[in-house]
Amino acid sequence: MKTKHIRQTAWVTGASQGIGRALAVTLCRQGVNVYASARRSDVLEALAHELKDMPGVLTPCPLDVTDQAAIERCFEKWEHNSRLPDLIILNAGTHDPFTAQEFSAERVEALMHTNLSGTLRSLDPSLKCCLKRGRGQIAIMASVAGYRGLPTAAAYGASKAALINLAESLKLDLVGSDIDLRLINPGFVRTPLTDKNEFTMPALVEPEQAAEWIIKGLDSNRFEISFPARFTSVLKLLRCLPYAWYFPLVRKLTA
Ligand SMILES: NC(=O)c1ccc[n+]([C@@H]2O[C@H](COP(=O)([O-])OP(=O)(O)OC[C@H]3O[C@@H](n4cnc5c(N)ncnc54)[C@H](OP(=O)(O)O)[C@@H]3O)[C@@H](O)[C@H]2O)c1
Repeated sequence: MKTKHIRQTAWVTGASQGIGRALAVTLCRQGVNVYASARRSDVLEALAHELKDMPGVLTPCPLDVTDQAAIERCFEKWEHNSRLPDLIILNAGTHDPFTAQEFSAERVEALMHTNLSGTLRSLDPSLKCCLKRGRGQIAIMASVAGYRGLPTAAAYGASKAALINLAESLKLDLVGSDIDLRLINPGFVRTPLTDKNEFTMPALVEPEQAAEWIIKGLDSNRFEISFPARFTSVLKLLRCLPYAWYFPLVRKLTA
């Protein structure tokens, strides 16, 4: 049975471009008021201006997701104005593809800082806020790259695998509460993040399509929102293979 999710206000991180921007636009079009966060305030201001005639209002909330104090200040302001978000999409993230020959701890830690620490520091006040109110929907953006190891994705894949495990654990801990925790695992979406990929991306989808699927998924009761269906089904099958089959197959598929 479908649960009706009433949302008046959403907080979307990483809303200045790519999937986050498409999510913010789609939500505003649906009449949801959106707090849009990213580091570039000028881009968020331009987006707010662009969407000024939409049914929902986009409010720029520029911040770095690794700055927990800044995020907490936003929550205090939203609470003061009686406008706390009913939906929180922790989407901000980055990618830095490199080979084993280019590996450096510093590079991995920089990516982990954004993808993992940034999500944790956004999640901390989000979860506290939802627990205090006894309601709310929180979606964590991971990736199918977190299912298993993939070439040139040691840092990115590890950050997303950690988020998948984190979301699964919290989902179990939240059983019986009215906090609706979700996990988003997209395949390839055409954004500035994937524009740097030097290979042909299979089953590539546009960010507007991704946003539509994500919001549809949030309206369903599925914990994991993964897409496009055929591509992610293949990756889910690969997840079950023993290493002796997995490594040669992935090497062949990505050669
Ligand atoms: N594109 C794909 O194929 C794909 C597939 C699976 C999962 N994902 C995930 O989906 C999310 C969005 O990806 P995308 O492709 O839309 O990426 P993108 O085009 O590079 O956009 C990333 C967004 O995150 C923001 N951001 C980055 N670091 C931040 C920080 N420290 N603090 C605040 N905001 C920050 C960026 O804004 P500023 O630069 O203005 O801060 C930007 O708005 C990421 O978590 C990514 O891993 C993407």
